[in-house]
Amino acid sequence: MNLRAVHYYKPPIFIASLLPLALLVQGYVQDSLGANPIEAITRETGDWTLNFLLLSLAITPLRQITHWQWPMRLRRMLGLFAFFYACLHFAIYIWLDQFFDWKGMVYDILDRPFITMGFLAFVLLIPLALTSTRGMMQRLGGQRWQRLHKLIYVSAIAGVLHYVWLVKADLQEPLTYAAILAVLLGFRAVMQYRKRQLSGQPPANRASARPPAG
Ligand code: HEM
Repeated sequence: MNLRAVHYYKPPIFIASLLPLALLVQGYVQDSLGANPIEAITRETGDWTLNFLLLSLAITPLRQITHWQWPMRLRRMLGLFAFFYACLHFAIYIWLDQFFDWKGMVYDILDRPFITMGFLAFVLLIPLALTSTRGMMQRLGGQRWQRLHKLIYVSAIAGVLHYVWLVKADLQEPLTYAAILAVLLGFRAVMQYRKRQLSGQPPANRASARPPAG
């Protein structure tokens, strides 16, 4: 697929990304979310936050393996959908779980490690969403922008820990997320290592290899 074709694929992918929300609204209206609809909505929005985070992290490895350029055009949209579902997830917690009890919420965030991790994962996504525009990228400069956007790794790790710590019995699903994240981050680490190897000796070694002056 060439880069132009992405213009045609983007709208359907955008609409498909809203489907989980549409299904939740439909389930709520039809009263088919089970005995505890609030828990179902919290869990579903949490799952989709993590799904979109991992999807956006999968784009770079996909490009490096296939040499396709077009997935890069979807990365920002997927990252913003992760933030969108995280906002819904957090809003449901504030509204329907804590009933806007701000003091209780602060205690909850400080007291329960899985909530602390979720909160951390969410807070780290805020600067990424705010600086996701082309204009902000230019204002920050490429290198600084890239360094800032590495926070997505920390956010994803915190998101997975949040899930692992909240589950009391069957760890299969959170550990599957953890394994996928480990593969995605491991791939990056290997690529980084190979890049450093290919770019030759580190500058310190190069300096000592220089012939003495005079
Ligand atoms: C990037 C940020 C976050 C991610 C990726 C995330 C992800 C998840 C996931 C995957 C679940 C479990 C879904 C399931 O059981 O299928 C979950 C549940 C939950 N999350 Fe989050 N979450 C995030 C932020 C937060 C924040 C900021 C809070 C509140 C401060 C929060 C509170 C909760 C609660 C209360 C549950 C339900 C726990 C239960 O069912 O007992 N999460 N989250």
